[in-house]
Formats: sequence, structure tokens, C-alpha cells
Amino acid sequence: MPATAPSDVLEKLVSLCKRRGFIFQSSEIYGGTGSVWDYGPLGVELKRNLKDRWWHAMVRARDDIEGLDAAILMHPRVWEASGHVATFTDPLVDCKNCKKRFRADDPKIKGTPGTPDAQCPVCGMKGTLSEPRLFNLMFKTYMGPVEDSASIVYLRPETAQGIYVNFLNVQQSTRQKVPFGIAQIGKAFRNEITPGNFIFRTREFEQMEMQFFVEPGTDMHWFEYWKEQRLNWHKSLGLAPERLEFHQHSKEELAHYARAAFDIQFDFGGTLGFQEIEGVHNRGDFDLSRHQEYSGKKLEYFDQPNNKRFLPFVVETSVGADRTTLAVLVNGYREETVEGESEGRTVLGLHPSLAPIKAGVFPLVKKDGMPEFAEKLTAELRQRFPVFYDESGAIGRRYRRQDEVGTPYCITIDGQTMQDGTVTIRDRDTLQQERVAADAVARIIQARLST
Ligand code: GAP
Repeated sequence: MPATAPSDVLEKLVSLCKRRGFIFQSSEIYGGTGSVWDYGPLGVELKRNLKDRWWHAMVRARDDIEGLDAAILMHPRVWEASGHVATFTDPLVDCKNCKKRFRADDPKIKGTPGTPDAQCPVCGMKGTLSEPRLFNLMFKTYMGPVEDSASIVYLRPETAQGIYVNFLNVQQSTRQKVPFGIAQIGKAFRNEITPGNFIFRTREFEQMEMQFFVEPGTDMHWFEYWKEQRLNWHKSLGLAPERLEFHQHSKEELAHYARAAFDIQFDFGGTLGFQEIEGVHNRGDFDLSRHQEYSGKKLEYFDQPNNKRFLPFVVETSVGADRTTLAVLVNGYREETVEGESEGRTVLGLHPSLAPIKAGVFPLVKKDGMPEFAEKLTAELRQRFPVFYDESGAIGRRYRRQDEVGTPYCITIDGQTMQDGTVTIRDRDTLQQERVAADAVARIIQARLST
């Protein structure tokens, strides 16, 4: 089965995702909303499985990280304290002629914006580009019935701030001792100037963030620890190790809050290449000290054994659920020729724990009691994991439809089943079929899903 390297996987994925119900453009019947996407029946399962793996690794499997689900809308002072009102900006230029807007560093702009010879990359007019102006990426709205400056609130551009403002609530209610972490998964919103590449950069997206509170001086130790942990987590999703690497932020790249930062990058191939999917940041005491200053409330931790108070430093791990979903899709997509068959197959080689459907169940033919047997088995398996029952069309076609959505196992009920109660389990990747007792199927698949 030689694998063919598709030239533009992203384009093929956009079409597969729509056709098979993973991801649709938002408000499509109205012409779509710019860079906002909806997850369909299979996509919602895939993304949920990914989030569950993260939640399990970060919260459930450890005793030093607590979960949180903070609100999207927060007190507007939060975003002044966090630095987002002042510095979460991109420099933009406007064309006075065609009214289009560009990032000031857009390589398509000829000349220096604001000068007479600068040329608009869209309408081609000279001297119409404004000087760069700072544009804040936060979405603004109003709380309550009055639309005035006192009622402005923002949609959060990161989930992290909900954790900082709850630091003492969580610490005191759980009696955790530093070092410990707080994790949450939730939506974030950014009015991105150059969104695109499907779900890679969107204006509404989900983050999975964890803030680890440590004693100052131990921060670089924990920073190294979390870099390693997080890289290993991405490998555990089945992302190819050679497609993952660290990228260290230079001084110029560091965000306003960061003392040190590494991105975990994934090689998306094509024109994207290696791109950030997760950031690991040493944020020092920037956030807690700013919230202390802006709220007037002490946020110090009291270390009882040593009888001292201090403001913890924070090591943050921040990963995009949508961007990692895209990485998993790109990583798994392959087109293959199948020996002895004229038609090739498209496979989504998803890790079984991420696959939206775990097993397809097929009666070989629609007679001789096979459908009834298959329906009974389906009902039993559905108690444990998502199953797709399919009795229509040629068996090869049914297999291929499941390969394309990443279903790791297909179970076929055939003539022999009716005699001895055995069925075949076909493996998506090896194409091997093994014959097992029907009443052992649930246990066998469950065991494979948990590895
Ligand atoms: N709290 C730190 C923080 O938000 P970030 O590097 O700006 O750091 C973290 O974002 C992760 O969130 C990124 O690695 C990416 O996976 C995801 N992300 C950020 N902006 C995004 C966008 N516009 N669309 C999709 N995912 C995004």
C-alpha cells in the first residue's frame, strides 16, 4: 500500500470535513461568516475526544492541578490589568480610496504607508495608504441596556485571566499548596486581521490552558518540566515526532507578559510548514501582581510550613483545541492504493481514542438473519462507545466510507457468524481481519481504545 503524498492536504481536508460532517462554514446559507466554523456530528466528537484527553492528562490523572470553568465575560478592569487594552494590538493601515485594511507589515504593500509613493495592494492607487494605526484585537460589547463607555465589556481573548482572578478562590477551597496548577478549557475571541487556513486561525476558538503557580526561583525548573510534558502529550495523540519541534521566542517575539517562551510547533506541510500549536510561557508574577495592583486585593499565597507570604510565579501551557484538531487531521490524512483493488482509499489515520466512530458494524448481506444479529451487536457496543451500523452497498465501499472518517475497526457479520457466532474485526491501518467470538468484541475493542 504505497502512500501518495497529497500536494495540498488542507484543501482536501476542507472538502472531506464538509462532505462527511466534521466542519462546516458558519452561517453558510448566508454566504458564511469570516473565519468562523461550526463542528458537525463527527467534528464535535473528534474535538471533544481531544479535549477529554487533555482534561484527563492535566486534571484527572494528577493531584496537583484543579479544574475551572470561568465565565467569558469579565470585569473590564481585568483587561486593563492584563495589559490587553494597551498592548493587544496590531498596527494597521487603511486605503482611503478602496477602504481596505491591511497589516502595516503586509509584504504586498509597496513603499512606506503614509508617504505619497506607497501603493495599495488591492486598488493599486498611490498615496492613499494611511500611517499605521494600532488596532485592538479584542471584541467589544455592552453589558446591560445602556450602550455607553461605562458598560463596555470584552469577549475574553484568552482564558488565562479567569484563572488568575480565581487563584485564591481555588487555592483556599481545595487547600492546594504551591506548586499547583489550575486548568480550564473554553472559548476565546480575537478580531484577527489575517485569519485563515481553515480552523488554523479563526476569530472564535477554544483554548485549553493551564496556569502552574510556583515559588519564585523554581520557575525555570517548572518551565522545563512543562515543555517536556506537553511535547509528550502531543506525541501521545499520534502526531508524528518528526513533525513536532520547539521554537524559542526571541526577545522581540516575547508577549508583554512573558519572561521566557517556547512554542510547540507542528509541521502542517504545504505553504504553512511548521506553526505554533501550543505556547509554554514563564509569565513570572506579571499577572498576579497586576491584578493585585488594579483590584486592590492581596493575592499572596501563605506558605504555612515556612511562615512566609509571597506572590507565586506562573508557568503557563496554552494550546488551541481547534488548531490541534487541525494538526491531528493533517497528520492522519493519507491517500493509498490498495493491492488487488482498482480504487484507492482515503484514510484518516486518527488515534483510536480520538476517532469519532470507534467501530462500524456491517451485515455482509441483508438476509439470513445477519442484519438482526448485527443490530443486536450494535446495540450492545453502543453502551460503551460510538458505533456506526451500515447495511447498504458493497462491503468494500462500506469499509472505505469508515476509513475516510478514521474509524479504527469494522466488524462484519457473515455466513459463518450464523453458524458459530464469530465475526471478523478489520483493522483500519493494517487491513488485517481477525475472527473472534461476537461476545468478545466489546472487550477486545475497549482494550485497544484505552492504549
Ligand atoms: N494565554 C496565552 C495565550 O493565549 P497564545 O500563544 O496567544 O497564548 C495560545 O495562544 C494558543 O491558542 C496558540 O498556540 C493556538 O493554538 C491558539 N490560538 C491562538 N490564537 C488563535 C486563533 N486566532 N485561532 C485558533 N487558535 C488560536
